Amino acid sequence: MLIRIRDESAPAPSEITPESVYRDRRRFMGQAAGLLTMGLGAALPGCGQAGEQTAGKAGHGLGAKLKSVKPGPYGTEEPKTPFDDVTSYNNFYELGLDKADPARLAHRLPTDPWSVEISGAVEKPGTYALEDILKPHALEERVYRLRCVEAWSMVVPWIGFPLGDLLRRFNPTSAAKYVHFTTLYDPDNLPGQKRSLSSIEYPYVEGLRIDEAMNPLAILAVGLYGDAMPKQNGAPIRLIVPWKYGFKSIKSIVRIHLAETMPRTTWNKSAPHEYGFYANVNPEVSHPRWSQARERRLPSTLWSPNYIPTRKFNGYGEQVASLYSGMNLRKFF
Ligand code: MTE
Repeated sequence: MLIRIRDESAPAPSEITPESVYRDRRRFMGQAAGLLTMGLGAALPGCGQAGEQTAGKAGHGLGAKLKSVKPGPYGTEEPKTPFDDVTSYNNFYELGLDKADPARLAHRLPTDPWSVEISGAVEKPGTYALEDILKPHALEERVYRLRCVEAWSMVVPWIGFPLGDLLRRFNPTSAAKYVHFTTLYDPDNLPGQKRSLSSIEYPYVEGLRIDEAMNPLAILAVGLYGDAMPKQNGAPIRLIVPWKYGFKSIKSIVRIHLAETMPRTTWNKSAPHEYGFYANVNPEVSHPRWSQARERRLPSTLWSPNYIPTRKFNGYGEQVASLYSGMNLRKFF
C-alpha cells in the first residue's frame, strides 16, 4: 500500500528533496510569488527575517526557504516529479492554453498585495489580507499525487494547511452545505481572460461539498518543493484536493463563499456531460476524450510514456470513500 501516515521522526522536507532540485529551483525564483513581502513570512516562524533581507536585495522576495514546514500526514513514498516538470508543465488557462504558457507568462499574475474574501454562511465574514489568513496556521508538507483529467499525473510536495482548519475559524453556520471558490479576475494582466473565444468563462470557479472541504486531505497550498508557490502553480494560495481530477484544485483564490446551494463550476458549465461536479478520480468512468484507466506519470516522453494504472480516488479511498457511500459514482461523476 502506498499511503502512509508520517510520524514525527520522518525526515524534514529539506532533507528529502534532492540537492539538484533545489539548485534548479533558483532559475524559477523570478517567476514565483513575492510572498515574503506580503507577509507569508509572518506565518513561517524562522524565515521571516531572512525573507525580508532577500526581498530587499532581490526585489522578488523569494530568497528564503520555508524553513519551519513540518512533514504532514498522507504522504506517498512514490518518487516526486522533478521541480522542473511541476513548474513548467501547467494548466492555468488565465495564462494561456499551452502547457508552457503559464511559466512564460507567470510574471503577469499580480500577487502583492493579496486578500481573500470569506463570505456567505459564516459568522465572521470579511475580506482578510493574506497574512491574516495564514497567521494561525502551521505549515505542513503534503506529498500528494496530482491526477489531471487529461490522463497525466505528478507527485508534488505541496506546502499548506488543512482547508477545514481555515473554514472552522470563521464559524460556518448550519446553512453552509457547500464551499464555492473563485480565482482572481484581472483581464488586464491575465491574457487568457481577455480572449473572446475562450472555451471557459472567467473568473474560474470551483466548489466542494462541506464534508469534502472538511476532509483532512483537502489543503490550501502556499508553496511547493520547500518554497513559496510559483505563480504558474497558483500563487499565492490554491486548493489541493488530491482524490479529485486536477481541475478541482483551483488556483490563485480570492474568494471562499459558503452557501446552501451547490455551485456551478467552470468546467461543468463549459461541458456538463464531460466534467461533473464531483470529479473524483475514477478509472471505471472514462471521459469522452480520455480513458481514465491509466495515466502518464511525469516525467514522460513519447518513447518512454511511463504509463501506470489509475486508482480509484487517486489511491486515497481509505481517507475519502466513505464520503460517497451509497452514491452512484457513474451518475455523480
Ligand atoms: N485554476 C485556475 N484558476 N485556472 C486553471 O486553468 N487548471 C486546473 C487546476 N486549477 C486551472 C486551475 C487544472 S485542469 C489542473 S490539472 C491543475 O490546476 C494543474 O495544476 P498545476 O499546473 O499546478 O499542475
